[in-house]
Amino acid sequence: MVGYKQLFENNKKWVEEKKAKDASFFEKLARDQQPGFLYIGCSDSRVPANEIMGLEPGDVFVHRNVANLVNNSDLNVMSVINYAVKHLQVKHIIICGHYNCGGVKAAMTPKDMGILNPWLRNIRDVYRLHASELDTITNEHDRYNRLVELNVIEQATNVIKTAVVQQCYQKTGYPIVHGWVFDLHTGILNDLDIKFETILHQIQKIYNLTGFDSTFNEYGE
Ligand code: CO
Repeated sequence: MVGYKQLFENNKKWVEEKKAKDASFFEKLARDQQPGFLYIGCSDSRVPANEIMGLEPGDVFVHRNVANLVNNSDLNVMSVINYAVKHLQVKHIIICGHYNCGGVKAAMTPKDMGILNPWLRNIRDVYRLHASELDTITNEHDRYNRLVELNVIEQATNVIKTAVVQQCYQKTGYPIVHGWVFDLHTGILNDLDIKFETILHQIQKIYNLTGFDSTFNEYGE
């Protein structure tokens, strides 16, 4: 394990490396941020957002939590999405899970996890929604990994349910929402190729937050 004091040594080295490549690197960095992407991923230490996408500081707005969940009563993730879409005008929102996710595994363990219970309950809900498919997978490891994928799809759907994403997309054609899974064994990012437009139209039957229905007046009558 890396020692605590080493972190500052690493930092100094990193600063020198950046300056050696580009003398005005930090001057530019301090000026503004215009990231094209919002990345929502797992807190797992083995899935470093910038690094796996080959991105530099300033390229991606990042939010991470246990098992990459997008819960509509979580003020933290909702604020991040709102800020990224409305103010930074990101073009793409990526939900990135990873195989062998400890959060997903914990959620499928019949055990009281204390404060983690309500958080992990979101994943049990994903299981319940897809129980008919998941129950046909007899290999436990394969079942967990499929749940990782389905969790990514459901969390991406939760992003699409937000008013800010629906309204901004209607106005500008952006952001597009994507679902990925990172494979720890190979380092490869697997695009689940979710059909953003299709999901948007499906969920808008119930979750449409783009404005008033034309058949109603401004008072909703
Ligand atoms: Co994880």
